[in-house]
Amino acid sequence: MNNFSFCSPTEFVFGKNTELQCGKLLKKRGAGKVLIHYGQGSVVRSGLLDRITSCLQDHFIEYVMLGGVQPNPTDDMVYRGIDLCREKHIDFILAIGGGSVIDSAKAIAAGVPYMGDFWNFFEDKVTINKALPVGVVLTIPAAGSEGSVSSVITKKDGKLKRSLWSQFFRPAFAIMNPALTCTLPSFQTACGIADMMAHVMERYFSRTSGVSLTDHLCEALLQTIIQEAKVVMSDPENYAARANLMWAGTLAHNGICGLGREEDWATHKLEHELSALYDVAHGAGLAVMFPAWARYVAGAHLDIFEKFAIKIWNIQPLGDKKATVLQGIRAMKDFFVSIGLPVNFEQIGVRPDDIDELIAHLEINTGGSLGALMKLNMADARRIYTLATQQTIE
Ligand code: NZQ
Ligand code: ZN
Repeated sequence: MNNFSFCSPTEFVFGKNTELQCGKLLKKRGAGKVLIHYGQGSVVRSGLLDRITSCLQDHFIEYVMLGGVQPNPTDDMVYRGIDLCREKHIDFILAIGGGSVIDSAKAIAAGVPYMGDFWNFFEDKVTINKALPVGVVLTIPAAGSEGSVSSVITKKDGKLKRSLWSQFFRPAFAIMNPALTCTLPSFQTACGIADMMAHVMERYFSRTSGVSLTDHLCEALLQTIIQEAKVVMSDPENYAARANLMWAGTLAHNGICGLGREEDWATHKLEHELSALYDVAHGAGLAVMFPAWARYVAGAHLDIFEKFAIKIWNIQPLGDKKATVLQGIRAMKDFFVSIGLPVNFEQIGVRPDDIDELIAHLEINTGGSLGALMKLNMADARRIYTLATQQTIE
């Protein structure tokens, strides 16, 4: 196990009707004037936004609203948010929504006290050393941004999707009411499931030895997500299944599963170009890329992929290790298909000819390699994208 340092200061307030505690939580944190940040209308339609604003009024907390964040959030909204916060003297941001809204809120929070261009942070030109506090009311279990150190923003000019990790991005609090997720379209539920599984797998597939505790944590999370996914797909109102998925989404990405071990993240980087260039939902892109990446790297790491096949997908060990491994990867792909996700480029509108553009956008163009289990170069990335064109749904 490698050395590590871990600090997760976020207060998680979990359960039915917990959104009604937002006024109390904001008061406790000394919020004076709040920016309420939200997406493209689901929180308006569900009545959640009204409940939150009433709660703030009851606690005599002033607020300003900025809605309209789009999935795969973009820099233009971040600039608007920074200007608004400065103009209205905002000292706290409340994000109501999923990863896109939360990430936009985090970027605004870091941009307000910084007098340069916030995009400098995302290009690693400047380090964040100050940010407004961010609170969250989570409406979709997926990105794990409610407990994570990261924010992912797309720069519209050039369609560059970049993720940034900073301790200043950990939210002050996250309100998590699983009942709020019952209004999710089935496709969004499925995308969230793929994303949280990917967050665990980016950590599970590691070269670090002596990490049995985090191995088991990862396995428990994956087993639970798969089991509860099947329940919510057939019974979307099932509170217990929604609750387990919601908390799994947080644990998948708040960092605990990766402590003391090398993490991979190649698949996320390969996927980010799909959502940047084709506006694919992040989880759908991951359902395409994870089986393709696994097929490419598994041959050099048969032991860990065999364990994955046996423990996660209940494959009976075959005499031939490679055959067991391939069955495990196939089971992962079949699972994604079974919950309504795409598994190849054609299904998400990407043509084989587009691979050149995907390659040209990859962050590794600025140097270095991709991933850790197997360090990938541009030629490897091209082969993995090509595998993603060939996957079938049968
Ligand atoms: O915009 P509205 O109208 O709210 O609709 C949203 C959106 O269309 C809808 N939705 C959310 N909650 C709902 C609901 N619809 C009905 N009922 C509800 N309760 O769902 C759609 C997707 O929302 P979004 O926030 O985009 O989803 P998600 O949480 O998957 O976030 C995706 C973004 O997070 C980034 C992704 O790259 C992507 O940009 N990620 C952020 C990470 C982080 N900050 O730690 C890590 C992840 O790996 C990921 O990269
Ligand atoms: Zn993700």
